[in-house]
Amino acid sequence: MTDREQIEKQLREAQAQAEADFAAADSPQTLYEAKTKYLGKKGAVKAILRGLGGLSAEERPLIGQIANEVADALEIVYDARLDVLKRSESEAKLAQDSIDVSFPGTWPVRGARHPLALMLEEIEEFFYSMGYDIAEGPEIEQEWYNFDALNIPADHPARDMQDTFWMKNGGVLRTHTSPVQIRYMQSHQPPLRMIAPGRVYRCDSDVTHSPMFTQVEGLVVGEDVSFRHLIGTLEALLKHVFEDSIEIRLRPSFFPFTEPSAEVDLRRAGGDWMEVLGCGMVNPAVFESAGYDSSKVTGFAFGLGIERFAMIKYGIRDIRLFYENDVRFLRQFR
Ligand code: DAH
Repeated sequence: MTDREQIEKQLREAQAQAEADFAAADSPQTLYEAKTKYLGKKGAVKAILRGLGGLSAEERPLIGQIANEVADALEIVYDARLDVLKRSESEAKLAQDSIDVSFPGTWPVRGARHPLALMLEEIEEFFYSMGYDIAEGPEIEQEWYNFDALNIPADHPARDMQDTFWMKNGGVLRTHTSPVQIRYMQSHQPPLRMIAPGRVYRCDSDVTHSPMFTQVEGLVVGEDVSFRHLIGTLEALLKHVFEDSIEIRLRPSFFPFTEPSAEVDLRRAGGDWMEVLGCGMVNPAVFESAGYDSSKVTGFAFGLGIERFAMIKYGIRDIRLFYENDVRFLRQFR
């Protein structure tokens, strides 16, 4: 064997040995170490090339070319092996911190509708489906809208400091939603059907009275609106909100803005009569306040408190529960 053949054989053997070492490396780290062992400055290939001293000037480039081929081939094998090792390393990592789909999760806390929102929605749905408009008015109201226009005289007890939150400028926190009747009639012409839900305020507080509560006003005006229409409407409403089996009765009553006036009671089978709302035929004086000709139109009106409705429907004894937002109370309306 010539020197050249000898060196070429050494190079090929080193290449085969390096390829075997690369294949045996089990991590990028050991693979890199193997690469250095053959291709590094102090590596086996360099050591072989250092032994070229005995070769002729024609032979040296030939051996150099073979050495380059070996180095290039080893780089390719190295890169391929590095790829494989990196991939299995990341796969092992993934397998380790994989997600256990059988592990019990934490539930997001689900909210519930507020009972007053539920009740209001039920009432609004009922009237909306019958073609009523849903109107609103201001909670800070002028004395005239809250009282005078509704035929509530200056010496009426409702105007007393005891019952009404007066503002320094003479305005009031509206004590009922009835002033929306006037505002609505001022901006609409008959025939009309509307309800006006909203907050109202009174100086009053115990288990069944809150200084702020929520009413729904109703007003229907036309040429031949009668007391029968009022009774039929309220009966349908109450059977929709409560049960079909409830009994209803009307008691004569008095409100300055209606004439005649009545209070409506309901009773469940075996239960006691419970007062649920006030109503009546619109007093002609109210039509005049709103600018209507009271000889041409008639109408009925009613006013109800949705807290009272919700207390009866859901069996709630203390009105304050509606405003405290205790989740143990609210969750029950899911
Ligand atoms: N505004 C009355 C109140 O707050 C409720 C009421 C009664 C309204 C009779 C009406 C009605 O429209 O006709 O006590």
